[in-house]
Amino acid sequence: MAELNLILLGPPGAGKGTQAERITDDFSLPYVATGNILRAAVADGTELGVQAKGYMDRGELVPDEVIIGVILERLGEGDARDGFLLDGFPRTVPQAEALGAELSGLGRELTAALLIDVSDDEVIRRLSGRRVSAKTGRVYHVEFDPPKNDGVCDVDGSRLIQRDDDKPETIRKRLAVYHEQTEPLVQYYSELGLLRRFDGARPPAEVHDHIRAQIATLRLEDRL
Ligand code: AP5
Ligand code: MG
Repeated sequence: MAELNLILLGPPGAGKGTQAERITDDFSLPYVATGNILRAAVADGTELGVQAKGYMDRGELVPDEVIIGVILERLGEGDARDGFLLDGFPRTVPQAEALGAELSGLGRELTAALLIDVSDDEVIRRLSGRRVSAKTGRVYHVEFDPPKNDGVCDVDGSRLIQRDDDKPETIRKRLAVYHEQTEPLVQYYSELGLLRRFDGARPPAEVHDHIRAQIATLRLEDRL
């Protein structure tokens, strides 16, 4: 079976984490989420966490030279050698170039860049109501995707928290950083013929259906 090497693109709050959880279940792919890796490093007080914390709190990107090595190393681990779903990487053109070079050096290539599109206004609504389980990483929204019981995770009953960077002024900064540094990747992957675009304003289950159907098609095309 052909490898599925997928990346998720989209503004903060587009639903990358929400969809990733469902897609990795559908296709049994290892899930590599840069934000989750960085937040765990901050919580553990590792060198990476110490380097990253200030940037994350300000809503800025962690420098390329800090993040690229960490992610490429992760993709070299056993479980990611036959396919992966990347969320939050690449986020700059140099990151995309580094990923492309690494994969081609290994005789591998990206299958697709899945772009989840939503407006800035919707991002602000979503991130202000987001709650996450610090333990399982599962993502909820107080209004759009609430847990079965208020304030606790459906999976294991752990407490739900608000992310430090979900404050209104940090959300605005993250959006500006997205438009300036990450949005150029839409054209980058479009020119490579790898971009697949999804309307992220639809309800989570509908976005999921569309993405799942697209990945199934990509897989079929690859087998022909
Ligand atoms: P990261 O953790 O990647 O944050 P982000 O890209 O800002 O994206 P989010 O996780 O906020 O949003 P999401 O798209 O996953 O949405 P979610 O599914 O949660 O990065 C954090 C920081 O780390 C960065 O700012 C940077 O500092 C650093 N960093 C990370 N990667 C880096 C890199 N490569 N280079 C440099 N620095 C890096 O959904 C949001 C909310 O909406 C939830 O409440 C959810 O329930 C709800 N929702 C989801 N889908 C729907 C829907 N269809 N309808 C209604 N509500 C929905
Ligand atoms: Mg996320």
